[in-house]
Amino acid sequence: MSGDAKILPGTGRGTSEAGGGAPSGTRSTDTSRKPPVPLHHPADGPPPRSGEDLRKDFPGLTPGWHYLDTAATAQKPQAVIDATVAAMGRDYATVHRGVYARSADMTLAYEAARRRIAGFIGAREEQVAFVRGATEAINLVAYAHPKKGRVLLSVLEHHSNIVPWQLAGWQVDVCPLTDDGRIDLDAAERLLTSEHNMVALAHVSNVLGSPLDVARAADLAHRVGAELLIDGCQAVPRLPVDVSALGCDYYAFSGHKLYGPTGVGVLWSDKLDALPPWQGGGSMIDRVTFAKTTYAPAPTRFEAGTPAIIEALGLAAAVDYVDAIGLDAIHAHECALVGRLREALARKNSVRLFGPENSAGIVSFAMAGVHPHDIGTILDESGVAIRAGHHCAQPLMEHLGVPATARASFGLYSNEDDVTALIEGLARVERIFG
Ligand SMILES: Cc1ncc(COP(=O)(O)O)c(C=O)c1O
Repeated sequence: MSGDAKILPGTGRGTSEAGGGAPSGTRSTDTSRKPPVPLHHPADGPPPRSGEDLRKDFPGLTPGWHYLDTAATAQKPQAVIDATVAAMGRDYATVHRGVYARSADMTLAYEAARRRIAGFIGAREEQVAFVRGATEAINLVAYAHPKKGRVLLSVLEHHSNIVPWQLAGWQVDVCPLTDDGRIDLDAAERLLTSEHNMVALAHVSNVLGSPLDVARAADLAHRVGAELLIDGCQAVPRLPVDVSALGCDYYAFSGHKLYGPTGVGVLWSDKLDALPPWQGGGSMIDRVTFAKTTYAPAPTRFEAGTPAIIEALGLAAAVDYVDAIGLDAIHAHECALVGRLREALARKNSVRLFGPENSAGIVSFAMAGVHPHDIGTILDESGVAIRAGHHCAQPLMEHLGVPATARASFGLYSNEDDVTALIEGLARVERIFG
């Protein structure tokens, strides 16, 4: 699976800023007529593997260490490391500018990465803008949107899906949660009015693991004439996501949670063309004069400056890796681990469990009389790495009535031993604080 770290095959598209007749900074849009890469196409190579076998692909998973913080950031498979090393070494050059072959090849590889990642989420390449991560994607929409009005968020949102709207001057309304920690769409239906122009919700909560019924949220938003932005940070690594079927208007995610590098993420929209640029600089322009500047079509117009070339190629390698295992298999694997952990935690009198039974890959809990930071520190002594804190979701902490939670989150490489080590570690916490 680690494979050869080669530049991805070319797109057949030329370098857009390589001089000649093409206006500087423009991308050919004729590829929009191409069908998207099929969703979750079976990757070439050996049949899907699972369990212990997969852990060997992750050099960060050192023996005896139980990594249960994949919701914060995922460990990287060797295939991703190899792809980034090749992109930074043997194959390195800039994109969209060079007249020499290496740069033309790199441009083809960068655009092939875009196409590969677009196909992974059921999108077309011109609908996918590379950004630094979900945070930047949401900021982009919040700032660039021509109608900054009223946005409906929910109590469980990550700060990345709260603060950008506040900073950009939107009026924020808040949808409550159900008792088991899901976004209450019945309440959203009652709250939404024709004054709302945006609804922005997490597909999967980074604290509670609660999955959202995106189709229903889209229907509710559209009924009042609002658009729906989905923060897909925690969903894309855990559930098969097909943006063409979800019904949302914008979908944002970060590469590093999808087993790819940091510094790259995606904003998907089938209406990117309707958004004006929000950051100016090289690459995003059509023609610059001091009197008037015109802009490149989407998505290039949202990629001001030299892009995260290495990271984009690394993310495409991560998508190949994840696809070869299959998100259905990853989801089933993580659900089984969540079920086992929730069952074990439910048996402990000292533990308060948060989130719904069907939480996706993420389990948050608190222990009576023990601060989550102490839980995390004691577990670390036994080689168990969990997250403890407010998880960038302070309004949710307030709603739950706790300053922080302990959170275990799974990835495709997590296994039963990780769960056992966590449960044994918690027994030690109970002994120390008992
Ligand atoms: C649900 C959710 N949204 C947004 C973010 C922000 O992602 P990033 O910091 O990669 O931009 C995170 C990261 O933890 C998250 O879990």
